[in-house]
Amino acid sequence: MTTERILIVGGAGYIGSHAAKAVRLSGREPVVFDDLSCGHEHAVRWGPLVKGDIRNAGAVRAAIREYRPSAVMQFAARIEVGEGEKDPAHFYDNNVAGTLNLVRVMLEEGVRNLVFSSTCAIYGDPERLPLTEDLPKRPVSVYGRTKLMTEQMLEDVSRAHGLRFAALRYFNAAGADPDGEIGEEHEPETHLVPNALKAAAGLGGAMKLFGTDYPTPDGTCIRDFVHVTDLAEAHILAAETIAARDTNLQLNLGAGQGRTVMEVLRAVERATGKPVPVEIAGRRAGDAVALYADTTNVTRELGWTPRLSDIDTVVSTAWAFHRKAWKLG
Ligand SMILES: NC(=O)c1ccc[n+]([C@@H]2O[C@H](COP(=O)([O-])OP(=O)(O)OC[C@H]3O[C@@H](n4cnc5c(N)ncnc54)[C@H](O)[C@@H]3O)[C@@H](O)[C@H]2O)c1
Repeated sequence: MTTERILIVGGAGYIGSHAAKAVRLSGREPVVFDDLSCGHEHAVRWGPLVKGDIRNAGAVRAAIREYRPSAVMQFAARIEVGEGEKDPAHFYDNNVAGTLNLVRVMLEEGVRNLVFSSTCAIYGDPERLPLTEDLPKRPVSVYGRTKLMTEQMLEDVSRAHGLRFAALRYFNAAGADPDGEIGEEHEPETHLVPNALKAAAGLGGAMKLFGTDYPTPDGTCIRDFVHVTDLAEAHILAAETIAARDTNLQLNLGAGQGRTVMEVLRAVERATGKPVPVEIAGRRAGDAVALYADTTNVTRELGWTPRLSDIDTVVSTAWAFHRKAWKLG
């Protein structure tokens, strides 16, 4: 019997590399397709790497013909919100046109199952919490709009051409592989946990705290931090579910718990045993006060529950990875 393969597009990046490991642990072969524009070759460890751009139909087709995957997981995107405001054309091209190109080739080659990385940024500043999937979609960034447009495109293509897809709307992915083999390595890094760890380790100067006057218990924003390994495992369940039930899914994927930025800094101090030096800065335009997921639907549809998403496990796994990556002994 041949091993089932899954094409992991953007699999050299942070979440995609953790998904590749989860795919391998599920008994399947992960084939990574990535242009390495933001990803790392050293993060591709559980199967072959095909270097290519999703906007290049010939390259995508060649990878699908060579490996004949049963499903595609699509992580590839530009993700830095500020960069999207400065260069929207590049974001629409990479995120929307790139995914459309990928889907076209998939359908032409008879691959019908897609798991797509969406985001809670499609909701904008929500009118109620926790966030349920039926809330209005009013993204306040180019990045959020590229993801919402892609979901709408997938809905239309699915209706007309028989694509099956799961759009997983992640909240804040954080933490690292519990075995310490891979972790978060964005460049530039804009995410809270690695930046707070860097500040605590004395490597990056003080950490900027954007807004301490929000209407929250300690004045800092509230976010939902979901462990990247928990996210990765949801992708396996999503791929299995859409194929078995011949259905589409659009699901919020978070830990279901809000944490203030200050609570995360306290967790970083517990993990590192060092204070996090902070510089108080003003609020950032477009930052919602609070975002956390209602996980009722993802639990019901996928039978998924987070195992590693308590804040101390998130931070301690990230710290274990970064200590090694930053050669701190
Ligand atoms: N990190 C988060 O907290 C978070 C939250 C919500 C949604 N997401 C979404 O999850 C996905 C993965 O995020 P991440 O943090 O792992 O990002 P990442 O930048 O680490 O990974 C993205 C990968 O895609 C590759 N890539 C980009 N454009 C490509 C192209 N045109 N062709 C081929 N490969 C290309 C990059 O080289 C990189 O390896 C993204 O789609 C992102 O929008 C992430």
